[in-house]
This record gives sequence, structure tokens and C-alpha cells, in this order.
Amino acid sequence: MTAKPHQRERAVEFVRDLRRYLEQLREDGTEYLLIARGKDSDPAPAVPRSAAARPPPLRQVEEAVRRCRRCRLAGTRKQSVPGEGGMRKSVMFVGEGPGEQEDLSGRPFVGRAGKLLDKMIAAIGLSRDDVYITNIVKCRPPGNRDPKPDEVVACWPYLEKQIAVLSPKVLVALGSPAAKTLLDTDEGISRLRGKVHDFEGTPLIATYHPAFLLRAYTVENRTKAWEDMKLVRKTLDGK
Ligand code: URA
Ligand code: SF4
Repeated sequence: MTAKPHQRERAVEFVRDLRRYLEQLREDGTEYLLIARGKDSDPAPAVPRSAAARPPPLRQVEEAVRRCRRCRLAGTRKQSVPGEGGMRKSVMFVGEGPGEQEDLSGRPFVGRAGKLLDKMIAAIGLSRDDVYITNIVKCRPPGNRDPKPDEVVACWPYLEKQIAVLSPKVLVALGSPAAKTLLDTDEGISRLRGKVHDFEGTPLIATYHPAFLLRAYTVENRTKAWEDMKLVRKTLDGK
């Protein structure tokens, strides 16, 4: 049976729409979702591979953080942001606290600073799947103010547990609040960066926070951040 002209037109239109849709998916980088559907043994990586592989104690911390009301930040947050990533390469990045985009999405470092952090991670040959990313406080301080000492103290057990569970090979403190808290010091980031410290037996490298780099995008600061990232790579490689 031959199709009537209007039916054929509709079929052509459908194929054209489908092609446009597939092109859009490809542009979005989601083409792999279609390809990876092939074998049951090879599930589509719709969520990062690492998410399924997270050890149960880590998931327990993340769930506790989602429900936590231990400090006043619970009253102003939209969502808490426990942390995420894989640990294929055993590196853990610790920022200060969620910003607006993170508070809205429940995910760490997804705003402008996050995009720069992605580049810093990629610059040393790693991806988000290789590293775990979290913060000193898991809920957004209103207006992005610095976390207060009692908030840092209230939230500390979560980070302590995350470090214990993941036992990273290298810890990276992003910015002053993270470096000061982890190293228990009052020294500023300019003095703490550029060398390998020790956090209870784990090498710790402090560097500028990507949000600071965005504000002060000078050649000098970028060079220093790049040196710190190379030090992260060297330490990870045991050199
Ligand atoms: N800045 C941080 O310190 N942490 C985030 O998760 C995002 C921005
Ligand atoms: Fe709990 Fe930390 Fe959020 Fe405070 S900042 S409510 S301690 S998860």
C-alpha cells in the first residue's frame, strides 16, 4: 500500500524532527546515552559511574547532611550540599561553603567558580569522576558571608567522616577558610599555599579559591594556582 501524500509529508516531518532532536542531544553531549543502551552489562552512565560505587558509609554521611539542622544555616538554606564525585584518583577538594547555585541544585561547585574548578582539575589530567568535592560547611551562609566559627564546628564531623571514609591520597584546601580549618591555623592562604602540609597523615595542599581567582584574575595569581595544581599532581603520583 502506498502512503497518501499528506501521510508521507507527516512521516518526512517526523524524521526531520527526530534528526533535529538527535542533533540537539549530540550538542548537549548526551549522545552516549543512546549508544550505551546496547548491553545490559554496560548500563548507560546517566549518573556519574562513581555515584553507584560510593561506599555506604559515605552515602550515610550525605543523607545525614541532607536532613541536618545542627546549626542556624539550616534555617536559611534551600538545600544542603553534602559533596559529590568519584574517587578513582583519590583526591579530595574542600571549598568554603555552597553559593547560590549550589544551594539551588544541592551540588557543590556548579556555579562560575565551579566551572573554573573544573578547568583546574582538567589541567592536571583529572575529571570530576576522579575526585571528591565538598565544603567546610554544607549549607549556604546567607549572602555568601564567611561561615561563622560555631557553624564550622557544628559541621566539622561530616567532613571528618568523609575524609575518614574516602581516605584520600591528597587533600586540596580551596581558599583561606578551608585551609585554616583543616590546618588549624590563623595563617592566610598566601603563606599556606605552595607547599605540602600534613593533615593527620594525609598530604594537604592549599591553594587559592577559584572564586578569588575570578575576582583577581592576574597572571601572578593564575601562575601560583597552576603551580599548586602541579604540586597536587606530583604528590598524587608520589613524586
Ligand atoms: N564556593 C565554594 O566554596 N563551594 C561551592 O560549592 C561553591 C562555591
Ligand atoms: Fe548541618 Fe552543616 Fe548545614 Fe549546619 S551547615 S545545618 S551543621 S549540614
